[in-house]
Parts: sequence; structure tokens; C-alpha cells
Amino acid sequence: MGKFWVFVLVAGIFIAVINKLCIEDPVYESCTENLPQLNLDMKVGNVTTEDGKLAYSGYLTSPTLKWDPSIFEHNWRFKQWEFYGIYADNITLAVATVDLGYVKNVFITIYEKGKDPVTIEEIVPFWVPSNMTQDSLKGTTRFNTTNFFMFFHNNGKDMKTVVANYKKTEIDINLIFVKGKHQEGMVYLGPMNDDGSKFFYSHKQYNYLVDGYLTYNGKNHLFSKQLGVMDWGRGIWPYHSRWIWASGLGVHKGVYLGLNIGELPGKNHYATDDCLFANETVIKIGVVNTQHPKNLLDPWVFTTVNDRPHPNYAFMNMTFYPEKVFEKSFSVWVIKSDLKQLFGTYKGIVRTTEYEVEVVVRGFMEVHHARW
Ligand SMILES: *[C@@H]1O[C@H](CO)[C@@H](O)[C@H](O)[C@H]1NC(C)=O
Ligand SMILES: *[C@@H]1O[C@H](CO)[C@@H](O)[C@H](O)[C@H]1NC(C)=O
Ligand SMILES: *[C@@H]1O[C@H](CO)[C@@H](O)[C@H](O)[C@H]1NC(C)=O
Ligand SMILES: *[C@@H]1O[C@H](CO)[C@@H](O)[C@H](O)[C@H]1NC(C)=O
Ligand SMILES: *[C@@H]1O[C@H](CO)[C@@H](O)[C@H](O)[C@H]1NC(C)=O
Ligand SMILES: *[C@@H]1O[C@H](CO)[C@@H](O)[C@H](O)[C@H]1NC(C)=O
Repeated sequence: MGKFWVFVLVAGIFIAVINKLCIEDPVYESCTENLPQLNLDMKVGNVTTEDGKLAYSGYLTSPTLKWDPSIFEHNWRFKQWEFYGIYADNITLAVATVDLGYVKNVFITIYEKGKDPVTIEEIVPFWVPSNMTQDSLKGTTRFNTTNFFMFFHNNGKDMKTVVANYKKTEIDINLIFVKGKHQEGMVYLGPMNDDGSKFFYSHKQYNYLVDGYLTYNGKNHLFSKQLGVMDWGRGIWPYHSRWIWASGLGVHKGVYLGLNIGELPGKNHYATDDCLFANETVIKIGVVNTQHPKNLLDPWVFTTVNDRPHPNYAFMNMTFYPEKVFEKSFSVWVIKSDLKQLFGTYKGIVRTTEYEVEVVVRGFMEVHHARW
């Protein structure tokens, strides 16, 4: 056999192996059993062990465990993201910065009710300097890229400045997020493999009160005491990942509500991060199963595996009614991102062993499938 044919054969085997290892998606299994929904609020110590594995699995209502990212500095699977959103009656707004290690991404999403959602973003090469916070309630995140200026700054533990400018056309966002001293959050430690070396650590903080403005298309939108959410996350992600994140906010019957539902990859969970915020309190919800509709814009039904409330976790029956979808796919052989963002209203109930909360809130939902 000539050298050329040996080369072709070896290259062919190589491509087949890469395809097998990378491109073929593993079968996704959602969790269909109840979990203990372990609360870690009384634990002291670190989020990770000294060799970079998740130390616990469970959730906290505030970030009291110590997070030390220095061990992950040179790990190319280390992913960092920060997201701020408000879902007002007539406008949904989200800004985010993402650092995947080898590439970064910033985006602004605006959905004006009745119009098509708009997402503008920039893929930022890793060598462009930027900063991300080391703590969800401390420090500064700052990106000054070709097209964007993003600045998220903590003024103490309960107040954040969120500034985002798009330089090409005028989009100017300037918001102050304030939360009550006793406002609970959802801090989540979720392993994504057997030994916890792949995991994510996130702080989803709902029920911020937001003041400020958005200038967009020559129009000023003013916000006054509008409910807001932060999704701050860090983690060592597996190459294949997929998730659903359903998120809602609104005042219904005088109660300030924040709804957080996730369908997550992973193993060895002792908890999920599904919950409802009612004023300052987190109501933990049981494991949630999602009924994926055939058509993206049909209603999505989310129900707990438990058909009645348990002392540690509530029963939920929630439907999301989407109005619009934004779709974006990107695929270059081994790297792929398939993102769908849906905008609409959540309606349903959450029932604890003591009471029932009726939920009607505006919100958004993200269906993401990635290889990166
Ligand atoms: C937590 O991490 C610090 C280093 O950041 C280390 O000195 C300490 O021993 C760790 N504590 C536990 C309980 O692992
Ligand atoms: C990141 O933070 C460092 C130290 O505070 C600072 O010198 C640098 O200018 C910051 N970079 C950006 C892009 O904000
Ligand atoms: C962003 O960077 C540009 C130069 O690249 C500089 O002119 C500008 O002042 C910077 N903006 C901020 C707010 O730091
Ligand atoms: C939403 O609409 C109401 C009137 O329908 C208006 O008063 C308010 O300013 C609008 N809010 C935003 C953020 O545009
Ligand atoms: C929630 O907060 C609002 C505003 O402070 C208050 O009117 C309402 O009674 C509270 N509801 C509950 C269930 O705590
Ligand atoms: C959820 O609510 C819908 C509509 O109210 C109802 O048809 C359905 O049976 C409920 N599901 C559960 C599990 O309670």
C-alpha cells in the first residue's frame, strides 16, 4: 500500500473516532425519581475539594460556602457566566457575559411584547482582556470589546450596578439591582459526573428590585421597582451538555414571585435547583419533569415527580405559554451550540404541606444543547 493510502486510512479512522467520541450525542435521561433536596445551609467549608471536585451536592439559600476559582485558572473546561434579566409586562431584557476559557461571548436580548425578539452578541477571542467576578455578590465584571461595553459592579452584597452598551447602534442599559438584606437565593452545587470533577456551581438570585433605563431604537424605557434576576454560574462542564432553564418574575395577588425551573444534565444529585421565590422566601420544589411539546410555541407543562407536597419539597403544576421564539444555531464539526429562547407567561400553582401559591408571571425559557 502506498503512503498516500495509509494516510487516507489513518485519517479516516481518526475522523470516525472523533465522530464517535464527540459528535454522537449521549442519550439524555431525565430524572424521574424524587431526590432528598438536601439543604446545605448549615455546612461550613469550601464548594470544592483541594483536587477540584465538588465537595457537596445540594442547595443553599445564600452563598455561604467558600468558592476558590484559583485551582481552575488553567482548566479549559472552566466555564463562567453572568446573566441579568427583567421580565416586565411589555418588555423582557437580558444581558450576559460568558467566558468558556477558549472563547468569550457577550449578549443583549430585548423582547418587546408583540415584536420579534432581538439578540445582539459578540464572540470575543480569549486574548481580549476582560474580568469576571470571583464571588456572586462581590467584585466587578467588565468587558470592553469591539462592539460592547459591559460593566456589572457590586456595591456591597445587596446592590449591583448593571451597565451594558452596544456601540454600533444606540443600545444603552443602566440599571441598579437592589435586594432586601434577608432575601433568600438559590445557590446550587450540581455534580455532572460520578466523582464530581465535572460540576456546576450557581447562584440564581430572584426578587431584586430594579431601577433604571433602557434606551433602544430611539426610545427610553424606564424601570421603577421592576423585579429582576441574576444567574451567576461557574463550573467544569462536560463536552456535551444540554439544559432547559425556565425563569419567571412578577407580582401576583400582592406576592413578589420568582420562578426557577431547570432540566439539568448530571448524576448523583441530592437536589435540583427548582424553586419558587415568594417575597423573601425560597420554596423548594421537587424534581420537575418537562413535557416537551411538538411545536416550540405550544404550551410547555412542568410538573413535579411528586404528586403531592413533601415536607422538604413542594408540588408544582406549571404551564408556560410562549409568544415568540428566538433561535440560534452554530455548528462547526466538534463545536456546536443550539439555542432557543422562548418568551411568554407562566401560569400554575405551587403547593407546600401548609399552603398553596398561585403563580402568574412573565418570563422566558432557554433550551440549549451544546458541544464545546
Ligand atoms: C478550604 O480551602 C482553603 C484554601 O482556599 C483551605 O486552606 C482549607 O483547608 C479548605 N477547607 C476545607 C474544609 O477543605
Ligand atoms: C481587570 O482587572 C484588573 C485589576 O483590577 C485591571 O487592571 C484591568 O484593567 C481590568 N480589565 C478590564 C478589561 O476591565
Ligand atoms: C473601551 O476601550 C476603548 C478603546 O478600545 C476606549 O477608548 C474606551 O474609553 C473604553 N471604554 C471604557 C468605558 O473603558
Ligand atoms: C409598559 O407599558 C405601560 C403602559 O401600557 C407604560 O406605562 C410603561 O412605561 C411601559 N414600560 C416600559 C418599560 O416600557
Ligand atoms: C409579600 O410582600 C408584599 C409587599 O411587601 C406584602 O404586601 C405581602 O403581604 C407579602 N406576602 C406574603 C405572603 O408574605
Ligand atoms: C395540572 O393542571 C392542569 C390544568 O389545570 C390539569 O389539567 C392537570 O391535570 C394538572 N396536572 C396535575 C399533575 O395536577
